[in-house]
Amino acid sequence: MAAIGETQPAKHQEVGHKSLLQSDALYQYILETSVYPREPQPMKELREVTAKHPWNLMTTSADEGQFLNLLLKLINAKNTMEIGVYTGYSLLSTALALPEDGKILALDINRENYEIGLPIIEKAGVAHKIDFREGPALPLLDQMVDDVNFHGSFDFIFVDADKDNYLNYHKRLIDLVKIGGVIGYDNTLWNGSLVAPPDAPLRKYVRYYRDFVLELNKALAADTRVEICQLPVGDGITLCRRIC
Ligand SMILES: C[S@@+](CC[C@H](N)C(=O)[O-])C[C@H]1O[C@@H](n2cnc3c(N)ncnc32)[C@H](O)[C@@H]1O
Repeated sequence: MAAIGETQPAKHQEVGHKSLLQSDALYQYILETSVYPREPQPMKELREVTAKHPWNLMTTSADEGQFLNLLLKLINAKNTMEIGVYTGYSLLSTALALPEDGKILALDINRENYEIGLPIIEKAGVAHKIDFREGPALPLLDQMVDDVNFHGSFDFIFVDADKDNYLNYHKRLIDLVKIGGVIGYDNTLWNGSLVAPPDAPLRKYVRYYRDFVLELNKALAADTRVEICQLPVGDGITLCRRIC
């Protein structure tokens, strides 16, 4: 059923629409009332540059960027990690939230896309907080797990990369995040496909990653080392607070 105020086909049925809200009008209301007017100028600029990129579907949405920025301030995060940078929207929202001496270890297999956002990040005066490493995240995480100095050293870790590796990441990140620190897994509601009937016409990549996301959600719900909260912000974000 169409939501009040909607006459057009619902955008939430389109792949890549960045909200699971069933009312596009309500999502637009949130963006226009609470998000865009408070969005820092560099984030707006980066969002607009990213919108022109052919893979713009991958970017973190503005409402999620705002959420991350506030969350980082609420937990007084200083030392953070991000897996999956793309052009850097969530990275910039993190960098702007951290104190002057805050740090982000930013991992991505693709430096080219990061360089699209880098001039804006530099202009915003926060590039010094970022240590970007190009390459697959898993081997680097293994190296860090082998070094006890990294254990319990991160206040916040945001994971927004290859969904088929999320459980592999979790096995390692649980040692690297500090007790009381938070890991945020993005896309944990995966376009709403998690509850689609088996014969639903899903895009190939949505269908492929769906099983990994389902497995991750089950594993996180059963993991007694963390408290969790799954939020329907963006494409779903699950926060895990390490408790032991
Ligand atoms: C959804 S995008 C990240 C979006 C980003 N957080 C933002 O705010 O725009 C996913 C990113 O994960 C990266 N990626 C995919 N597999 C990876 C891996 N094994 N290790 C590190 N990064 C990876 C991709 O290159 C891509 O840039």
